[in-house]
Amino acid sequence: MSTPAFSVPYSFDERSRQSFVSGMRTYVLNDLAGHMRTVYEERVAPGFERRAGRQPESGPEVHKAMRPETIFKFYSSIRCAVQEMCWRSVIPGVVRRAEDLTDTAKRLSGEASEGRATLDIPPDFVTPAYITELDIHLMPGNYHEEHMPDDVSQGAIYDHGFDVFSMKLLGERSDDIAKSTAYFVANRFPDLKPSKILDLGCLVGHSTLPWKEQFPDAEVHGLDVAAPCVRYAHARARSYDLDVHFRQRDAVETGFEDGTFDIVFSSMLLHEMPPAEVRKLLAEIYRLLKPGGLMLHYELPPNSMTSAYDSFYLDWDSYYNKEPFYKPIRDMDFPEAMEDAGFARADQVVFVVPSMTVYGAEAVREGAGQEDVVLDERISRLVDGVRWFCFGARKGA
Ligand SMILES: C[S@@+](CC[C@H](N)C(=O)[O-])C[C@H]1O[C@@H](n2cnc3c(N)ncnc32)[C@H](O)[C@@H]1O
Repeated sequence: MSTPAFSVPYSFDERSRQSFVSGMRTYVLNDLAGHMRTVYEERVAPGFERRAGRQPESGPEVHKAMRPETIFKFYSSIRCAVQEMCWRSVIPGVVRRAEDLTDTAKRLSGEASEGRATLDIPPDFVTPAYITELDIHLMPGNYHEEHMPDDVSQGAIYDHGFDVFSMKLLGERSDDIAKSTAYFVANRFPDLKPSKILDLGCLVGHSTLPWKEQFPDAEVHGLDVAAPCVRYAHARARSYDLDVHFRQRDAVETGFEDGTFDIVFSSMLLHEMPPAEVRKLLAEIYRLLKPGGLMLHYELPPNSMTSAYDSFYLDWDSYYNKEPFYKPIRDMDFPEAMEDAGFARADQVVFVVPSMTVYGAEAVREGAGQEDVVLDERISRLVDGVRWFCFGARKGA
């Protein structure tokens, strides 16, 4: 297990359970998923072709054909159960230590150097209903719930739960996505030399701190709608002796001046927002960027770039994991949406970033020099050999 910033003294039994859950997820996402694919290719797709005279052409068609299959029911029910077990394996320890964690966070945040690592939580902030109305990816209490003043519990549950969930594929600080991407950006755009960077939907800062580490002279900001996560992120950054600013805001209305940032990044944010809000978000990012600035989103590849089977496979979360926007976002025409927000097609970019943890820095540097984007069934999935799909645009000068 990696080491989340605020340690929770889990018992031997709890650590065993966490390790078992990680192992189960590895089994479900690699072995069971591989077996399900074989059943599809060897039996379900040929059966569909015999009946329809063609192969399935979309994710929903594959979904409909797979739903009666025992392997699909088995995979789905085990995957849901293991998802719930991830959170259940860490919650008791966080609940036991909730007050200590809150005190520790306050102490760490209080030690922040004046003006260099601000924490901004407006008392009257209204959390969007699409966050408050359901427990996204089955995490009890979601990102935002608070049980005491200055509570950081939901941040701690996510940080520790994600450690179990990610099966060690994201490195010691669960930060491989941003770490690999920031290094990729530094190599791909040596002209950029960012002085201000913003991470939207920063959660506990896994996707924020690597930008500060890659560009230590830059002013780095993290923003999220969830107060417990923003507090936790700020204290977590201080625990690593990093000065990063955090604020609770809606990403569609950040409160920053026009033309503030050189880089605006998000990791796993878009698929958790309704499409109409994502369109507002793209316009807000366009407003926030300096001319020549870079917008970059780490996400799952869109349905337009994946096979019918992979569309079905990746959209599973929309139906069974309380991720209602997964499919609508993967169905979106992002080149068009970015153009509507002001980003010219010629300035748009798509990358596949090798994982630094899996492949090493040299592979990321080499990847940054390549123009071709080759997608396979491991892209942006927590499976052996993962690489990260990113897209975005530079704002025309
Ligand atoms: C999957 S998490 C992001 C994970 C994080 N970026 C990382 O890579 O570790 C999605 C985050 O987006 C936040 N979020 C959702 N809608 C938002 C919005 N409109 N503005 C800001 N944050 C938002 C959620 O509170 C949650 O923390």
